[in-house]
Amino acid sequence: MTEKGKWRSRMLGRRPLSPETLMMGYGYDPFLSERSLKPPVFRTSTFVFRSAQDGKEFFELAYGLRQKRPNEEPGLIYSRINNPDLEMLEDRLAIWDAAEASLVFASGMAAISTTLWAIVRPGDVLFHSDPVYGGTDFLLKRILPQFGVTPIGFAAEGGTAAQAEAAARARSAGPVAAIYVETPANPTNGLVDLAETRRIADTLGQGGRRPVIIADNTMLGPLFQTPLSLGADLVITSLTKYVGGHSDLIAGSCSGSRQILESIRGMRTILGTMCGPETGWLLMRSLETLKLRMTAAADNARRVAEFLRRHQQVKSVWYLGFLPDGDPDRQVFERQCTGAGSTFGFEVKGGETEAFAVLDRLEVIKLAVSLGGTESLASHPAAMTHSDVAPEEKQRLGISPALIRLSVGIENADDLIADLDQALSALG
Ligand SMILES: Cc1ncc(COP(=O)(O)O)c(C=O)c1O
Repeated sequence: MTEKGKWRSRMLGRRPLSPETLMMGYGYDPFLSERSLKPPVFRTSTFVFRSAQDGKEFFELAYGLRQKRPNEEPGLIYSRINNPDLEMLEDRLAIWDAAEASLVFASGMAAISTTLWAIVRPGDVLFHSDPVYGGTDFLLKRILPQFGVTPIGFAAEGGTAAQAEAAARARSAGPVAAIYVETPANPTNGLVDLAETRRIADTLGQGGRRPVIIADNTMLGPLFQTPLSLGADLVITSLTKYVGGHSDLIAGSCSGSRQILESIRGMRTILGTMCGPETGWLLMRSLETLKLRMTAAADNARRVAEFLRRHQQVKSVWYLGFLPDGDPDRQVFERQCTGAGSTFGFEVKGGETEAFAVLDRLEVIKLAVSLGGTESLASHPAAMTHSDVAPEEKQRLGISPALIRLSVGIENADDLIADLDQALSALG
């Protein structure tokens, strides 16, 4: 194997290497960077061309003016187009997402909006699951309609029947360009059946064009769910959450086939929604511990959820590991997910006053939105992340005033349970 191939090999002889092993160096050759074990932060806006001809050829490729020649590597031009830290990070994210390629963005919302700008056009219908993260909800229901795109939603909680019924409405409303699903949904943990979504997509195709299936995998991804292997065409992740994992950065990604990503990459270059090299570097640091963190947090979450389920001031716990045997979501969960993750909601007995009383008494668990960090966070979706969602929709989707969302971190589980116990005691 050539030296170059060695840093890009996913195999040890005939043994395929696991993602967690590859995160320690895949795609980076220390001998190109003064033998530094870790990649440097390539903090530069632009790159020097060896010759004018090189610059011409790099631009031709970057702007899609010609096909890539065999074994040709895209040349570095300008950090809005490409940057070594982002390229290494994208190669590593693609491994987790089981994708051909990946693109990174300045935020999860930048990933979602840039992807949708590249795919939907005025007159198109966007078929989507409900609920979705509050920012996505605003984009789909308030911003895209201003550009002539019609959103038609289906309740994740309604199962395949609700999805099929809404699909019929979507078909009659116009050409369906994309199906956008968030599964599990934030904040309800409602599940969408991806295989069924793929079947529906096939029925919605028109003129040989099937809607592109986009799955937001933020809540379980990339460790506990791989939507591309379940029928999705694109997988979006807010890297701000589990992948970044330390609540110290904002970023997003979109993974899929090279062909679909090409137009999204072009849109990213023009909108300028890529992330910076410093963030890219931090994300590579985080990927090294992704599996450890997500596994430890998931173990803690199970213990915390079990404690809450037994507490007399708690009305319900929406933890994926508790789906009852006969529930159709249980089958979807078992088919699609390899773990229950560590973000879930629970309802206290009472309403907003009682939920706020618990939130205000927490000491170890911080009162903040976001999820997926090493530290545990608690928030109130109805008044915070989903405050933009219309009141009747909140009610329909189960985002009640009594709902608290917990993102369980990697602290000592008994400390977290003690904190929740003392906070819940405020309710008498
Ligand atoms: C499921 C989901 N998707 C997307 C986003 C948006 O990500 P970001 O805040 O990185 O823009 C969030 C943020 O909370 C989220 O929870």
